[in-house]
Amino acid sequence: MMQKPQSIKDFTRKSFDRAYLYEEFTPIQKEMAYLISLNLGFERFDSVLEIGSGLGYLTRSINISFNDYTCIDISNKTLNKLKEKLKNQAKFNFIVGDVENYDFSGRQFDLILSSSCIQWFLYPEKTLKNLIRLLKKGGQIHLGVFIEPTFKEIQLASIISGFGSRLELKDENFYTNIFKELDMIYKYVCVKRLYFQSPADFLKFHKASGARFTNFDSLCSKKRFKKFCEFYKENFAHNDKVYATYSYLVAGFTM
Ligand SMILES: C[S@@+](CC[C@H](N)C(=O)[O-])C[C@H]1O[C@@H](n2cnc3c(N)ncnc32)[C@H](O)[C@@H]1O
Repeated sequence: MMQKPQSIKDFTRKSFDRAYLYEEFTPIQKEMAYLISLNLGFERFDSVLEIGSGLGYLTRSINISFNDYTCIDISNKTLNKLKEKLKNQAKFNFIVGDVENYDFSGRQFDLILSSSCIQWFLYPEKTLKNLIRLLKKGGQIHLGVFIEPTFKEIQLASIISGFGSRLELKDENFYTNIFKELDMIYKYVCVKRLYFQSPADFLKFHKASGARFTNFDSLCSKKRFKKFCEFYKENFAHNDKVYATYSYLVAGFTM
């Protein structure tokens, strides 16, 4: 059964609301944010908008200076934790909302940022094009996003076992095409593997990051789970450990 966009959004929000161990289980997300901050350097921007700021890997690692920094996140709980971390820093303001449906009422920004969030969009092309319209002339947009073949192993093991599923991901060209009217400042594509003791360990790690590994349609019976783990171990193991592939694009563009 097809799920309504609102229930998918509620599921995404709840997953991140519950990701209380996020900072222990997200080394790749941290790396992505760090790469964006390195590329931003020490530039000065008047107004900044960060999409899906979460607990603030990017928000807290950047060295740029600014007058006004707006964080928007769909998860109220996560944003409250970030507020707590940034308290007494008057230049920050926070919006709880879905950026795919948010009306910025004519506001414009010199810099738009997003790290490890865009892959969750239901309408990435439309939303990113809308975000480009929020840029002031000469403004910049810097993003980090998970792309294919991230978690290809989960996808295959799910098809074979009927257990769980993988978020559908876009490839590098999908994103760079959306920005083709802008000038590219830099672009990196990274592919790497993380290793785990077992498929179950990997799934626990994955869940603690706030990402879901099952959709609404797939059944999660013990039998299917066992088949998932067996297939995973047989096909994606090296030196007694199982691996998971991560791939991401980090890029910056200017108007
Ligand atoms: C993987 S976390 C990344 C957080 C942070 N940027 C980082 O690098 O650690 C993704 C964040 O995007 C938020 N998010 C997902 N979909 C969103 C949407 N449509 N609008 C706003 N925030 C969204 C989630 O609530 C979550 O906090």
